[in-house]
Amino acid sequence: MPSSPDRGLSRREFGKAAVALGGASALTACLDRFRNEPEEPVPSGVASLEQLPTRQHAWRDRIRLDDHGNALLPRHQILLYLNLGVDGPPGTDARNTVSAALSTLDEAYERSHEGLLHSMAYSPAYFDRFDASLPDDLDLPPPRRLSAFEQPDLDTQDALLHLASDRADVVLEADEALTGDRETANGVTVDARLTDVFSVDARRTGFVGAGMPAERQGELEGIPDSGPVPEKSPLFMGFQAGFRKNQASEDYVTLNEGPFAGGTTKHVANIRQRLDDWYGEQDFDERVMEMFSPTHAEEGLVEGVGSSLGADNGLTPAMIDNIDEAAREFGRVGHAQKNARANRDPDGNVRLLRRHFESTDDDIASLHFPTLQRGIGAFEEVRKAMNGVDLTAATPAVRQRVNNGILEYIFVEHRGNFLVPPMALRALPTPTGE
Ligand code: HEM
Repeated sequence: MPSSPDRGLSRREFGKAAVALGGASALTACLDRFRNEPEEPVPSGVASLEQLPTRQHAWRDRIRLDDHGNALLPRHQILLYLNLGVDGPPGTDARNTVSAALSTLDEAYERSHEGLLHSMAYSPAYFDRFDASLPDDLDLPPPRRLSAFEQPDLDTQDALLHLASDRADVVLEADEALTGDRETANGVTVDARLTDVFSVDARRTGFVGAGMPAERQGELEGIPDSGPVPEKSPLFMGFQAGFRKNQASEDYVTLNEGPFAGGTTKHVANIRQRLDDWYGEQDFDERVMEMFSPTHAEEGLVEGVGSSLGADNGLTPAMIDNIDEAAREFGRVGHAQKNARANRDPDGNVRLLRRHFESTDDDIASLHFPTLQRGIGAFEEVRKAMNGVDLTAATPAVRQRVNNGILEYIFVEHRGNFLVPPMALRALPTPTGE
């Protein structure tokens, strides 16, 4: 179901989506909800934009955190890729419709992991519809190939709506209210739909959280039949990611000036995983070397899925600076170790805010990889560091996709770049923000 273009979710697609998002128990909960037999009540939202944060991407104080302050992203997520039905710039009626559809969500659901977090973003192709240009200093190029060894489909749809909640029934209901034929959302009347203005080009679903990948690993392309994904892992590859101190803050990624002040830029990759060799040919220490760094394995810094690390991934400046040496000594380099080289500004601040989650769309183990940053260039620089082309010169053992972090196991399928405008401009903005 997930990538199929359609106006709304058919019954069969709904069932498949519910299972993809939440497993069989979520399907039962969802079906009950759709029969209007409510489970736990969902907290309601607010009726006016003024009661909401000014940043659409302000999630951190609205989601769960672990004991170390690491963000626990909402367990169920949907990405709706949307195209406008007409050529040229959208008019006032369309803008009012989108605004009303999004306001319905705000009123229906508390803006939190228990209700719904959502954000609307727009592509460079969308802004090309207008005669006016985006501000010169806004770094939002069209998506492109970012390594010699990838052939992604480039996502150039007009808009991307991101829905996220700890409740599968909530993201599904919100999706139905925006693109299907539901007349109410959590008791609030639906007067306007996104599909009055947009068509749904692709619907991609996912999940993240301890236990969820292991629960879903059976009969999935990309995961060995032995079911090796650790029970407690939040991700298919067996480790936790997104430690607080290795993430940019929401403040840091926010645009400070210009018409879109309060907004940010978003890159979204979709990455297919093939984990047969990851689990079949590598032992735990080798996986730690390739995910974090060889020193992490040597010093036993990572236990289990990595929660032993606390609030940061344990990379020291020495591990980052001496990566060539590590490559020669151990014949491998770590994914995090490589990326960190480009992920600090001159003052030592982390540049990217990663918010990735897993997917079983089309019965393939994959990852949806949204990151937020002030400009897309920051993402591209980190991705270049991750390509690690330079490291193949350090030793013959490290090759373009072998012993080079996790590149052997991941394959980029899609890339898209978007502007996440501030809340007040989230409905079909113009390039000048007027
Ligand atoms: C299946 C795909 C991926 C998995 C399972 C994964 C997992 C991880 C893990 C476990 C870490 C170490 C803990 C942490 O700092 O979060 C990490 C770090 C990191 N990853 Fe990934 N990652 C994936 C893909 C990517 C991609 C495509 C990028 C894009 C450039 C990326 C960028 C980073 C960055 C920037 C760091 C932090 C390094 C630092 O600055 O300290 N990752 N990743």
